[in-house]
Amino acid sequence: MSLTLRDATLADLPVITEIYRESVLNGVATYEINPPSEKEMRSRFETIIGNGYPYMVAVDGDRTIIGYAYASGFRTRAAYRFLVEDSIYLAPEARGKGAGKALLVELVRRCTELGFRQMVAVIGGAHPASIAVHRSVGFEHQGTMKATGFKHGRWLDTAIMQLALGEGQSSDPPEDVYPDTLYGV
Ligand SMILES: CC(C)(COP(=O)(O)OP(=O)(O)OC[C@H]1O[C@@H](n2cnc3c(N)ncnc32)[C@H](O)[C@@H]1OP(=O)(O)O)[C@@H](O)C(=O)NCCC(=O)NCCS
Repeated sequence: MSLTLRDATLADLPVITEIYRESVLNGVATYEINPPSEKEMRSRFETIIGNGYPYMVAVDGDRTIIGYAYASGFRTRAAYRFLVEDSIYLAPEARGKGAGKALLVELVRRCTELGFRQMVAVIGGAHPASIAVHRSVGFEHQGTMKATGFKHGRWLDTAIMQLALGEGQSSDPPEDVYPDTLYGV
């Protein structure tokens, strides 16, 4: 597979919506149960981009979008502003060929460059592939919240993994990155 990573655009939303729809319907990575419409995915995309987080697609050689990844705020309270959460979704036929790791490595690089200090993965169903891809990029398992989801007729554990970015906690963050006013709630 020849792989290119690039910023996602509005034109990518139909494929992104379809990739996410498959994971909502068949997987446990996301705890959504009803697939969001393309309009809703577009609104989420615009919020993420508007808040300055990276949102990327992985493109196969023949220009087919095979997956996407983005960072977003973990929670909205202002003190969380140096922490991002990652999300990665691949089309089923693209899994297990290195695209997930490539997207995550690039997401980590960009979030580090933007000045974020920690990245967290909230892993639905404590799914082995998702745990493996995060571990392979250096994330550490911080714990598991037992029976915190219920989907496909069963209780799901949620694993939390974390990676320090850049200087991590070894220095205070610069004050000019993501001022409190952006969060304001
Ligand atoms: C989870 C997901 C993003 C992983 O991406 P991927 O392209 O399939 O994984 P990669 O091929 O890049 O593999 C990365 C590492 O994980 C390992 N891995 C991948 N799938 C695995 C599996 N099912 N079981 C165990 N290890 C696995 C690989 O061996 C590789 O390890 P290495 O770097 O030590 O060689 C992808 O499978 C996916 O989109 N799944 C459905 C949605 C999902 O679970 N998203 C995660 C949300 S947090």
